[in-house]
Amino acid sequence: MATWRTSTQTLVLLCFLVLTKVNFLEAAESNTRSQNVACIERERNALLEFRKGLKDPSGWLSSWVGKDCCNWTGVNCSNTTGNVVVLHLKTMDYCGSVGHSEAFNRGTCLSGTLSPSLLNLTYLSYLDLSGNNFQGIPIPEFIGSLKTLRYLDLSHAAFIGEVPRSLGNLSYLEYLALSMVATDPLWLWASDLSWVVGLSSLQYLDLSFMNLSKANNWVEAVNMLPSLTTLDLSWCELQDFAESLTINFTSLSVLDLSCNNFNATIPRWLFNITTLQRVNLQRSEIKGSLPEVSRGSLCNLRTLDLSLNAFNGKIKGFIDALGGCGNNTLDYLDLSSNNLQGKLPDSLGNLKYLSFLRLTQNSFSGSLPWSIGNLSNLDMLDLSFNFMNGAIAESKSVVFNLNPDWVPSFSLYEIAISNCQLGPRFPTWLRTQVDAFQIILSGAGISDIIPVWFWNLTSRLWWVDLSDNQFMGKLPGSVSFEFDNITGAWVDLGFNLLEGSIPLWPNVSHLSLRNNLFSGPIPSNIGQRMSKVRDLDLSRNFLNGSIPASINEMETLSFLDLSSNCLSGTIPRNLQGLRKLVILDMSKNNLLGVVSISLCALPSLIFLKLSSNNLSGELSSVLQNCSRLFSIDLGENRFSGTIPDLVSAHLFSLTYLGLRANFLRGNIPEQLCEFPYLHIIDIAQNKLSGTIPKCLGNLKTFTYLGPYFDELPSTLHIEFREHVEIVSKGRQNEYTKIIPLLNVIDLSANDLKGEIPDHITKLSALFTLNLSWNHLSGKIPENIGNLQRLESLDLSHNNLSGPIPPSMISMTFLNYLNLSFNKLWGQIPTGNQFQTFNDPCIYEGNPELCGPPLSSSCSPPTNGAGEDENGDSEGEVEKFGLYISMGVGFAIGFWAVCGSLVIKQSWRRAYFKFIDEMKDRVYVFIAVMIAGCREKMR
Ligand SMILES: *[C@@H]1O[C@H](CO)[C@@H](O)[C@H](O)[C@H]1NC(C)=O
Ligand SMILES: *[C@@H]1O[C@H](CO)[C@@H](O)[C@H](O)[C@H]1NC(C)=O
Ligand SMILES: *[C@@H]1O[C@H](CO)[C@@H](O)[C@H](O)[C@H]1NC(C)=O
Ligand SMILES: *[C@@H]1O[C@H](CO)[C@@H](O)[C@H](O)[C@H]1NC(C)=O
Ligand SMILES: *[C@@H]1O[C@H](CO)[C@@H](O)[C@H](O)[C@H]1NC(C)=O
Ligand SMILES: *[C@@H]1O[C@H](CO)[C@@H](O)[C@H](O)[C@H]1NC(C)=O
Repeated sequence: MATWRTSTQTLVLLCFLVLTKVNFLEAAESNTRSQNVACIERERNALLEFRKGLKDPSGWLSSWVGKDCCNWTGVNCSNTTGNVVVLHLKTMDYCGSVGHSEAFNRGTCLSGTLSPSLLNLTYLSYLDLSGNNFQGIPIPEFIGSLKTLRYLDLSHAAFIGEVPRSLGNLSYLEYLALSMVATDPLWLWASDLSWVVGLSSLQYLDLSFMNLSKANNWVEAVNMLPSLTTLDLSWCELQDFAESLTINFTSLSVLDLSCNNFNATIPRWLFNITTLQRVNLQRSEIKGSLPEVSRGSLCNLRTLDLSLNAFNGKIKGFIDALGGCGNNTLDYLDLSSNNLQGKLPDSLGNLKYLSFLRLTQNSFSGSLPWSIGNLSNLDMLDLSFNFMNGAIAESKSVVFNLNPDWVPSFSLYEIAISNCQLGPRFPTWLRTQVDAFQIILSGAGISDIIPVWFWNLTSRLWWVDLSDNQFMGKLPGSVSFEFDNITGAWVDLGFNLLEGSIPLWPNVSHLSLRNNLFSGPIPSNIGQRMSKVRDLDLSRNFLNGSIPASINEMETLSFLDLSSNCLSGTIPRNLQGLRKLVILDMSKNNLLGVVSISLCALPSLIFLKLSSNNLSGELSSVLQNCSRLFSIDLGENRFSGTIPDLVSAHLFSLTYLGLRANFLRGNIPEQLCEFPYLHIIDIAQNKLSGTIPKCLGNLKTFTYLGPYFDELPSTLHIEFREHVEIVSKGRQNEYTKIIPLLNVIDLSANDLKGEIPDHITKLSALFTLNLSWNHLSGKIPENIGNLQRLESLDLSHNNLSGPIPPSMISMTFLNYLNLSFNKLWGQIPTGNQFQTFNDPCIYEGNPELCGPPLSSSCSPPTNGAGEDENGDSEGEVEKFGLYISMGVGFAIGFWAVCGSLVIKQSWRRAYFKFIDEMKDRVYVFIAVMIAGCREKMR
């Protein structure tokens, strides 16, 4: 029966055989050599019992019928004894995270419970349930009794709770993976790891994203595993990094301890492990100098990432030692974002296989050693954000001097210099570089005109990035770029001082002129001349006139940003040709008239932003065909009518509804509460009346920090995420990359009456709540403290009465509060963040409020309650400072630490090895952000 396996099963089998280099099927030993073995009845019953416990909406296991269980999906038997030896139910679909399983019904995903009937599979050696969504059940204790297991993968399967110590009984186990997904970090935990000592055959251990903050013996425990080759404890909140150890690792080659909280120096034993090949200690709060390494002891090392720590001192000794092996193999070295200093040592040139060297964001000084020219494999060298000067070596082993008048003797294909001081004059040596197909000079401090000869180089160029300098003058009307049919040229001239009219360059697929001084109208023949453009960003200039009708001919256009100009007239009525348009931003212009109902019907459009114009008409007619939109912003226009019945408008995908500052009337429709994905509701500054719908409390999306979108079109470039402006904390902020974490409700400046519904306190992941300038009455809901993530709360200018609820003390993220002009009374709470609200204006106009920061003191407390409060607050004082700074620092701080992850694919890979399992990179992007955010919240 050699033919009974389906081809996928064969493939899967091959995969794991390669992966683990052991033949698991050996486990089922037998003397019988019959080829004709069938499934064993007892094991078949055990599998059926197991299936009973599972929920399988996609019918993945529908082949689990009939006699021959060896033939069932995911089941493999020994071909000699017929015993089930492999249960391979790993799914490659993304099945969601704990408590969040929208994707669940779309893919092959299992949930439910795990039946102990598996114990009857007495020869089971391979069990893989990874990627499913068990929705928060614990890992069952009995798994530890599956004594014959050699491979166990329960990762990314939404298990929660303490890892059973019984797993330590699996003495044949060679492979153990229990990692969580980044959106569910730390739900699994272990308070100590002494049980792993029992796993005496273990070679591969991955517990990433498991909470091991209490497992202080982890080093000693894993040191008892003599066969260990791979250890991944990244994102585990590890704190202890044993200072001394008699090392026992004789085969450890891959070590990932990134993203932990060691707050310690690097222990010296670590680099005595001579078998190490790949080491990642990125962002682990390691301080002190780089360890002294004995020369030639790390000769197997290929990848070393020590970035984003607090290492200080010089690197000479360390680099000398790494290069001390005659045959060193190091090809990836990242020491970026530390406090390292001094000159770069000559011995860098001994790392002759180095292809990636990142030293950015340190305090290195002096010039680059000439020996760098020996690094003939180098294809990525990043020295930005240091104090280096003098000559720079180019990555392809040529050394050149950045004197602007210097004449080089070579010709480069790729020139990429960013965030280095190269200017102020335009580098004339570029003139000789006629073979280049890529020139990147962004953020190079050049303040000059772009010389005419530069435009003669462009016939070979397909990537030009001169953004973020101070280039002046006009652009030539015609320039031809290298055109290859697949990509087209990518030209970024954004953030300069360029002026004159917009150039029409054919063969350009991506053109950004954002943030310059371009003026005059957009040429009326733009659609014909630039018919191949995919991304066009003309925002933040001084363009006037109307939007030419010919843009309708840009059939490939997927991104169009004309925002922040002085464009007038109406939006062209016929844009039906823009069938690939995904993002359209025409905000902040003087556009007027009605919006054609066909605009929303563009088949690919998902982001529509027309805010801050003079557009008018009935809102319901604009919204008629918008069923695909993820985000709509029509704020600050003259739209009238009522907020239409969103259900009949089919706006099911909507995450962002921006209608602020229009002339909308009527009630807030209750259907708003039925939108499964809404994260931002901004309907402030209208004439809406009635009460705040109670059902707002049912908006599930406001109860967790989660990704907005399960899928975005893959055509979308990640750098072109929408921009949204949110009025929060009393000012307008532009958010771009952070949007998926914002949960905002802004109903301010309407005619709303009645009480603030208690239900609203269920929205535990709300960030911003603004109900100011209405006629709301009654009390502030007592449980408002449940809004644990609220950063900004504005209830000013209403008729609210009663005391400020004491529960608000627990809202430790709150950093903007305005309660002015109400009828509140009583003592202002003290403690936690209230300590920082010392601007009396936020309580103004409530004559009966008292206590600091107001000058009116309260009458002495009538009972002991006041004392209690004070006692509490003192205990919390230390904490609050920390929380507050984290709240404020969130958006900025996160980008300082993790921003580059999003941009640099390779970094992301270093972090998220499961990237390949993810369906789209946007999801990964969001996962990174959530992880980064947790980091800050600690
Ligand atoms: C299964 O049977 C085939 C054919 O006899 C044999 O070549 C193969 O090695 C067997 N596989 C295992 C894992 O025993
Ligand atoms: C199971 O085996 C039968 C023949 O014995 C075959 O027709 C069928 O396709 C197999 N099913 C699967 C899922 O491999
Ligand atoms: C194993 O199988 C036997 C006989 O079929 C059954 O009685 C027993 O309950 C099973 N064990 C488990 C743990 O399900
Ligand atoms: C090294 O590993 C062996 C085998 O597990 C163990 O007996 C021994 O105690 C370990 N030594 C240290 C220093 O941990
Ligand atoms: C790190 O350790 C130092 C002393 O070793 C201590 O003062 C500091 O508070 C610690 N930092 C954190 C974040 O735990
Ligand atoms: C590291 O190895 C060297 C020589 O092999 C030895 O002298 C030293 O004591 C070791 N250091 C530690 C901390 O184990």
